[in-house]
Amino acid sequence: MNILVIGGGGREHALIWKLKQSSGASEIFCIPGNAGIAQLAKCVDKPIDDFPYIEKYCKNNNIGLIIVGPEVPLIKGFVDYFEKKNFKVFGPNKLAAQLEGSKAFAKTFMKKCNIPTAGFEIFTSPKQALEFIKNPHFSNAYGQPGYPIVIKADGLAAGKGVMICHTLAEAEKAIDVIMLKKVFGTAGDKVVIEEFIAGEEASILCFTDGETIEPMVPVQDHKRIYDDDQGPNTGGMGCYAPVTKLNDDLHHKIREKVLQPTINGLKQEKIVYRGVIYVGIMIVNGDPFVLEYNVRFGDPETQVIMPLLKTDLLKIIEYINLGKLKDIKVEWANKHCVCVVIASSGYPGGFQKGKLITGLGETAMLPETMVFHAGTSFPQKETVQGLIEYDRSQIITAGGRVLGVTVTGNTLKEAIDRAYEAVPLVKFEGAQWRKDIGRKGL
Ligand code: AMP
Ligand code: GLY
Repeated sequence: MNILVIGGGGREHALIWKLKQSSGASEIFCIPGNAGIAQLAKCVDKPIDDFPYIEKYCKNNNIGLIIVGPEVPLIKGFVDYFEKKNFKVFGPNKLAAQLEGSKAFAKTFMKKCNIPTAGFEIFTSPKQALEFIKNPHFSNAYGQPGYPIVIKADGLAAGKGVMICHTLAEAEKAIDVIMLKKVFGTAGDKVVIEEFIAGEEASILCFTDGETIEPMVPVQDHKRIYDDDQGPNTGGMGCYAPVTKLNDDLHHKIREKVLQPTINGLKQEKIVYRGVIYVGIMIVNGDPFVLEYNVRFGDPETQVIMPLLKTDLLKIIEYINLGKLKDIKVEWANKHCVCVVIASSGYPGGFQKGKLITGLGETAMLPETMVFHAGTSFPQKETVQGLIEYDRSQIITAGGRVLGVTVTGNTLKEAIDRAYEAVPLVKFEGAQWRKDIGRKGL
């Protein structure tokens, strides 16, 4: 079967790397892809929300399955559009994607289903929000009233719409930025204000067909840019799996208090969910609290999940799309995996592109080491006819997060040590990475 993957990050590179090992996969295509993906799949640099173009492309290339990586097309109704045209797609529909597309929707869902989450209030009026933050107290609170509080733009804000406020002045500024200045556009029409909960975060990604929910190996991401969780939030600077601290008791609690109630709630709301549901949790005093749902694979979580997945990914997807997830055994390697993200200087703020990357070949020769590409590209040159051609002999930076050096090992320590031997071999001007990925798990 020919497969089209939508997206162009490290997540999509890892998915395609895994799909290449599947006997059922014929040719793999990717929109837009990147320089690493281009070594495994045919890439086309087109917008991922141009549904009519993608439809034509699928017809021309006899695509039997579309896998959607990022949230934006899912929230815009990618699955609804393509299923109506009789294509097979892996991912949740528009209604289900609201779990990521609207924080107010997700929090209301959690409250209704009794899923543990930080206490919250929702506001559409900036005046009422400003009144509330003078004396914040939450009707379904876990902890004490007062500061710190967390103010979140309701809609997608490229990971920047969540603000932790320690004082009234900071909270007033957050309301101003989100609701009055509308820095995130209509995502700021509504805000969710939450109590602050402190603990250890984990990413619980699950396969689901809406009936069965099958957690993948648990992952811990490192969201802040600097070591020891300092500096601003990023898309994720690296991660490791499995999260060694999640003992059997916690696994049980996550299933009983979070995953099963999520499935039951979706059914109750008549939301058909097929795909991956990613539950971001905070573990507080041995209990899980849901911070957020994502309706897709995580990035960079997928980079450490795929090397540990023993079962054929395409088979899992096929079983999910038939509504038969319960009939396939999903198996995991008894190993550890670490991914260290190498980012451009300046990220998560402004950064330059077009820096030459060297050392990729050398790194790929190391045992159990994969370099998943994110923001990479080939230099362009103009031909005499005025056409644009790519020079595939070189690879350059093209984004904030550039590469994910991913290593498996028999122990977490072995994987970490090997990853940090490999990372400095990859070189480009301004390359930065965290030095402490996985340390919390030791
Ligand atoms: P979200 O996009 O809602 O997951 O928020 C992004 C990040 O903000 C999370 O990964 C947490 O690190 C932090 N965060 C979100 N909500 C809370 C909360 N209620 N208490 C403490 N930290 C939070
Ligand atoms: N690594 C966080 C995310 O994928 O949302």
